[in-house]
Amino acid sequence: MNLAIFLDRDGTIIEDRGHLRSPSQVVFFPDTVRALRMLQQRFRLFIVTNQPGIAEGVIGPDDVAGVHDFVLDHLAQSGINIERVYCCPHRRVDGCRCIKPKPYYLRRAAREYGIDLRKSFVVGDHPHDVELASNAGATGIYVLTGHGEKHRADLPAEAIVTSGIWAAATRIVEMSGPRDCRDVGNEISRAAGILRAGGVVAFATETVYGLGANVFDTEAVARVFEIKGRPRFDPLIAHVSDRRQARSLVACFPKVARKLARRFWPGPLTLVLPKSDRVPDIVTAGLPTVAVRMPDHPAALALIREAGVPLAAPSANPFGRASPTTAEHVRQQLGGDVELVLDGGPCRVGIESTVVSLVEGKPALLRAGGVAVEDIEAVVGPVLRPTSAPNHPAAPGQLPQHYAPRTPLALYANDLHPVTGQRTGLLSFRGRSVSLGFAAVEVLSPYGDLEEAAANLFAALHRLDALGLDLILADPVPDTGLGLAINDRLRRASSVAGRVEKVT
Ligand code: TXA
Ligand code: MG
Repeated sequence: MNLAIFLDRDGTIIEDRGHLRSPSQVVFFPDTVRALRMLQQRFRLFIVTNQPGIAEGVIGPDDVAGVHDFVLDHLAQSGINIERVYCCPHRRVDGCRCIKPKPYYLRRAAREYGIDLRKSFVVGDHPHDVELASNAGATGIYVLTGHGEKHRADLPAEAIVTSGIWAAATRIVEMSGPRDCRDVGNEISRAAGILRAGGVVAFATETVYGLGANVFDTEAVARVFEIKGRPRFDPLIAHVSDRRQARSLVACFPKVARKLARRFWPGPLTLVLPKSDRVPDIVTAGLPTVAVRMPDHPAALALIREAGVPLAAPSANPFGRASPTTAEHVRQQLGGDVELVLDGGPCRVGIESTVVSLVEGKPALLRAGGVAVEDIEAVVGPVLRPTSAPNHPAAPGQLPQHYAPRTPLALYANDLHPVTGQRTGLLSFRGRSVSLGFAAVEVLSPYGDLEEAAANLFAALHRLDALGLDLILADPVPDTGLGLAINDRLRRASSVAGRVEKVT
């Protein structure tokens, strides 16, 4: 079952200025977008409004529809998806089907959208809204904006009263308690709705959490760059749910690509291929190539399928910071900037995908990642390794300073001792021969398993980073299999900490 919020329009999400005839008269409350963003993480949103001006003949149905369109458009631009507007055109004194058996619209929504009214809410600035809620078995939340203050005395004693839409939203979230895992399916369709409306959604993949937008919606993709603070010259990966979708993005899908896709998709391998004309330049940073991958996570695949379009998605962290491997990491780092975080649990692989270019001659490794190069070579023969100096990256985005915690981090091959006078944390591969005196120690894999180490890497970095240490020392791992990718991330994490290189 879905949960819903039925929002009154005038006085609740926009200012009540009498009969609104044109979009130019619409003024949103400053907190409306923020509040609805939070609510749509768990609820489907509807507007239920009474416009008696239509029955009175003082406004036309077209005027009202024009205002609705504007409100929906404005909210969609902020990534908020209103499922439907229910508008009663009658005067209350005349009585009508919409308001006489009051919950008419709510019952209809319950039928059409599978909504559990008992766990749903009506938010409005008139005692009628509260009455509507209780007649439908839902909970009414009264706001003191609009007519709220004026009619407060007419409320039943037990009514829940809040100062405005933001306070109402927080109250609703508190009252709804922890999320039920059965909600995940609904959450995917809500997320897909947000993506179709031009919004940005963070979602779980098997590697790290991604920050996704419809690949064909240039404005939505631009917002991804903005939220991440990512330079526009760094292209994004297009995530697909099936082969057909992958083919629609590329100009050709050569045999070597077919072999790799057959073996590693869905999975942590990204293929760079000549792009088709359909892919907007903003996605590829103007390159004639596009990076494509099919993630191996049921929620990511279901989301792409339901959105019906490939998703352009970088990792869901601010540019240059450690990638998120839990929904909580995303919330901490990007917080209110994202319309919805689709929680798919901790990421299984924990390190980004391997990026391989198939554009010229031999396959070339652009980024080490979740599939070991050795495994790729077993399928297609030798893969060229990057040769360029770190300041001249072969792939855009392969900047030397990346994946960095805020705390300075230094790589040490031996001599893992805390630095005198500094609160030092240790990121150790196996946790062997660790000396005392570290303020905190994270062990990536006690038995030396590189896959386990990769899965723990970013979460361990996030935890150490949260401790406000002076320094993190990290212990490189063997350079084989996933070790190549782990060491690559550790090197980039350490290069920002130039000043610790003086430490001995
Ligand atoms: O596992 C992953 O790959 C994650 C999840 C979310 O799928 N995504 C990810 O995206 O790590 P991002 O944007 O953080 O890294 C994408 C990498 C960058 O290094 C970018 O430069 C490279 O892929 N890339 C994208 N398009 C490219 C292209 N056309 N040619 C060369 N490199 C490209
Ligand atoms: Mg109102």
